[in-house]
Amino acid sequence: MLYSRIALSLIISVSVTVALELDIEDKDSVCAAAAAIVQGEWNYYDAFNYGGVIGKFTTPYYWWQAGLCFGGMLHYFQVCDPTNSTLEKLIFDGMYIQAGDDYNYMPSNETFVEGNDDQGVWGLTTMEAVERNFTNSEDHSWLELTQAIYNTMNSRWDETNCGGGLRWQIFTWNSGYDYKNSIANGCLFHISARLARYTKNDTYVETADRIWNWMISVGFIVYEDVDGGEFIIYDGGNIPTCSEKVTKLRWSYNYGIFMAGCAYLYNHTQNDTWAERAQEILTAGSYFFNGEIMTETTCQHAGTCNNDQRSFRAIWARCLSLTSILIPHLYDDIRPYIEDNAAAAAASCSGGSDGVTCGLDWSVKKWDGKYGLGEQMSALEVIMAVLSKVETAPYTSTNGGSSKGNPEAGTNTNTETNRKLVTITGKDRAGAGILTALVLLIILGGGVWMIF
Ligand SMILES: *[C@@H]1O[C@H](CO)[C@@H](O)[C@H](O)[C@H]1NC(C)=O
Ligand SMILES: *[C@@H]1O[C@H](CO)[C@@H](O)[C@H](O)[C@H]1NC(C)=O
Ligand SMILES: *[C@@H]1O[C@H](CO)[C@@H](O)[C@H](O)[C@H]1NC(C)=O
Ligand SMILES: *[C@@H]1O[C@H](CO)[C@@H](O)[C@H](O)[C@H]1NC(C)=O
Ligand SMILES: *[C@@H]1O[C@H](CO)[C@@H](O)[C@H](O)[C@H]1NC(C)=O
Ligand SMILES: *[C@@H]1O[C@H](CO)[C@@H](O)[C@H](O)[C@H]1NC(C)=O
Repeated sequence: MLYSRIALSLIISVSVTVALELDIEDKDSVCAAAAAIVQGEWNYYDAFNYGGVIGKFTTPYYWWQAGLCFGGMLHYFQVCDPTNSTLEKLIFDGMYIQAGDDYNYMPSNETFVEGNDDQGVWGLTTMEAVERNFTNSEDHSWLELTQAIYNTMNSRWDETNCGGGLRWQIFTWNSGYDYKNSIANGCLFHISARLARYTKNDTYVETADRIWNWMISVGFIVYEDVDGGEFIIYDGGNIPTCSEKVTKLRWSYNYGIFMAGCAYLYNHTQNDTWAERAQEILTAGSYFFNGEIMTETTCQHAGTCNNDQRSFRAIWARCLSLTSILIPHLYDDIRPYIEDNAAAAAASCSGGSDGVTCGLDWSVKKWDGKYGLGEQMSALEVIMAVLSKVETAPYTSTNGGSSKGNPEAGTNTNTETNRKLVTITGKDRAGAGILTALVLLIILGGGVWMIF
């Protein structure tokens, strides 16, 4: 392993000057820069370490960030390096194994950390695999896996508090179970929108519509009559009302998730309301630009961005690009930001011992001394976004996609167990002892699932 690490850093140092000389008009140059950033991501891959786990990245990186990271790698693979079977297998294995025993992205290893948002971010990546026609497994296609995520998340819609919405957490024992938030609901909204466009099944449009209306009703999305109209998106609020005391923090990924979701809905329904909503989120999204540079404003100015928050611009950048593709009349508004930020991000990827480690603050136009998986992912997404000009739009079932689905995925016996677990514990919170026993049983053996 030590040997391959050394080999890896040699590859990286060869790419140093290439990464710094990003020419956004030249696909080879963009792909070379992206290649160096992808290598930097693999440096954090757990499976390359002795006893490491396939599909996870090393501590302190969370399970959801692995889901996000594979999304960026998929993009790179499809557009820049589609014949690299080593890369294809690495991505495929990592993504597929984390689907877990129930094939719904609720692997038993993550029971103590997994929230609706975590499962949802994996759903963005499985859906991307669908739309990029990524190699399917014979048993569980990417579409089926995405539908399993959709069905399990949608089954948690909870009207007993706040008139609807998903909680942040899935399991009662995780802190945040009493909180409903924009990212958990945004992920379901976004996945619904993409499933609607891909499958042309309008049940998914109804789900998206319900989520949007609920977000407005609790004041997580607020319309402001300024700058031609804008939708501000806040973090979330506690049950039982959600609306009483909204946490008014703004994060770029919430804007990205909802904006691109609206873009998919517009592209599918051709209903202008969705294009207007996307545009109005984009307007409010100016909050995440410092001058023209993408900035996680809520934490970055204060220098307090944590491990999670350093990843958010990866989703923001990706969703800006998707929006510009799916709502062609917004392309010219969004494009200059992508180009400027790709150049700035590339300049920032000039640090560390490999010479191509990416930093956090792109406005300094050089490495700012920060590093991590979030920094790599954000830079990769914005640099890959440059290629939207030359790549095909996300496929649909009738136009390029080959993944065959199953609308009932995730509603099978095992998943039923997951759901029951949540319902039982939701009603009977005093039964904490039984719960602990349940958790132990789950951890001790998959066979135990069946008795519940
Ligand atoms: C294929 O991808 C792997 C993993 O990203 C990379 O290390 C390797 O250099 C690539 N191979 C070629 C021939 O580019
Ligand atoms: C779950 O954790 C065990 C122990 O670390 C590991 O061997 C296994 O590969 C993990 N499974 C998944 C799907 O992450
Ligand atoms: C467009 O979508 C909005 C929001 O879902 C809906 O209220 C409106 O009726 C739709 N318009 C048409 C023409 O379908
Ligand atoms: C949907 O996106 C495709 C790909 O960019 C574009 O060609 C098409 O015009 C879009 N549809 C609408 C209604 O804008
Ligand atoms: C999608 O993948 C299938 C199966 O590998 C292949 O037959 C088909 O040609 C691919 N479609 C496109 C547009 O590449
Ligand atoms: C459309 O999606 C819904 C929700 O998953 C599902 O119940 C229904 O069977 C689907 N319809 C078709 C025709 O696939």
